Amino acid sequence: MGSSVTRRTLLRSIGVAGGAGVMFESMRALGLVASPEALAVPDYRAPRPGDLAAGKRGKRVVILGAGIAGLATAYELGKAGYRCTILEAKTRIGGRNWTVRAGTTETDLDGHTQTARFSREESSYLNAGPARLPQSHITLDYCRELGVPLETFLNANANALIYNEATGVAPQQYRTAKADMYGYVSELLAKAVDQGALDQQLSATDKDALLTFLGGFGAIGGKASGYAYTGTSRRGYAVEPGAADQPGVVLGPPPSLSQVLASQVGRYFSFEFGYDQAMTMLQPVGGMDALPLALYRAIGKDTVRLGAEVVRLTDTADGVEVVHRDTRGRQTVERADFCVATLPPHLMAKVPSNLDPAVTAALRFPRPSPVGKIGLEYRRRWWEEDERIYGGITETDLDLAHIWYPSAGFHGRRGVVVGYYNTGANAQLYGDLPPAERTKRALAQGVKIHGEKYRAELASAFSVAWHRTPFIEGGWVGWPSRTSGEYALLNRPAGHVYFAGDWLSYFIAWQAGAFDSARHVVTNLHERVLAEG
Ligand code: ALA
Repeated sequence: MGSSVTRRTLLRSIGVAGGAGVMFESMRALGLVASPEALAVPDYRAPRPGDLAAGKRGKRVVILGAGIAGLATAYELGKAGYRCTILEAKTRIGGRNWTVRAGTTETDLDGHTQTARFSREESSYLNAGPARLPQSHITLDYCRELGVPLETFLNANANALIYNEATGVAPQQYRTAKADMYGYVSELLAKAVDQGALDQQLSATDKDALLTFLGGFGAIGGKASGYAYTGTSRRGYAVEPGAADQPGVVLGPPPSLSQVLASQVGRYFSFEFGYDQAMTMLQPVGGMDALPLALYRAIGKDTVRLGAEVVRLTDTADGVEVVHRDTRGRQTVERADFCVATLPPHLMAKVPSNLDPAVTAALRFPRPSPVGKIGLEYRRRWWEEDERIYGGITETDLDLAHIWYPSAGFHGRRGVVVGYYNTGANAQLYGDLPPAERTKRALAQGVKIHGEKYRAELASAFSVAWHRTPFIEGGWVGWPSRTSGEYALLNRPAGHVYFAGDWLSYFIAWQAGAFDSARHVVTNLHERVLAEG
């Protein structure tokens, strides 16, 4: 099966003899398309009720943190009868899975208190943390298992805009930018092929096939025109087509190749090619927090102590001891057989404990990232009414980075636009401002794209600076290295203490990482309990 020609010939004869179904199975066998096994998540066997010896009480597990990793750990261990207690320092569950709605209040580490003044419409919310779910992630399996209804999240939208202020080019729709970039790239490649520049690489048949593809991909002219790109209705219309004698006026003429390259619009096209991104994704109906709330209900609300800050962790000869403090300063000692710690590593490192100094040093190794987001509620959905933008994201080189339009509540009265979602220095810049100043700045930037209504029609705003949020202090973390020992060390138990979170997975900044890490710990802990009898 060395050459593709041999494979192609074989597949054709299989297709002729056995039909498309047989051919598809054969392609799978040859590794030409992903098998269902490859698409499925790695094997996971949830603990079951009969696993633990009858009559024996389940082991006690104290879990630090009621984010997705902590809740999922309690949920999975609970299936076999473990007795779990979650200690959560904040007065709400969910961790970074946080949906801000009318009345949500938060005080940041700089003492700024915000209360969301959004309207009470179902879609008037801000998913301040996770906000889009890829189809490949186990997060969806939990949504299915827990009955969390999903709807489409529109990630890429041809009607959304691209604006690179530094290039001096006015905002333009994705569809226009793509038509021009794909058109010119197709023209150049077609010319090169036609002039024989790629004769070393391409047979005459290959050349024909490639030219046919480029003709469609770039909407370019034929050989007689020199494969010229001269514009296309894909760019959009200056005057929309209509009935009878109104063919419309195509937007044009296109800028020159040099102008298109100088506009740098192409730098945003590849975003949706990422495996964990796509044009369409998913979101829970009514807000991302439907997921932690479903877990919370499933494990029983009594399992979670809210407002319980861990002040000391001791790994003892036969278990763990956790001292925690409530919001009034009263301390309580919690004893358990095991601890699963899901706090962000940089905060876990600060909890006084008797953990091996190498473990504490490893917890300090991943670097927290500043991340910010603002929800802007408008008095009317002008992006739909005036600009025909239904969901999707506008990409910019401004410090706001991205503007997201809501994927729910179309044609509703109001709507919440994400006015910035930024990281690094931009997140730091906004996070350093008091909330009212953040809003002002975000509006001043957004006006450059959408005009004065972006400021004039605002109803209210709510922003989050994750790096300044108590008990979280970062949007996510980055590992300077995953191979220098720290990552492996923390993926193993330290005595009776296990660590879990998206930061211990290859899905950082995704809930799937928290779920997968929880499953990893649950599997190891359960196997240990079964082995110890
Ligand atoms: N998972 C995060 C996002 O989709 C980083 O933006």
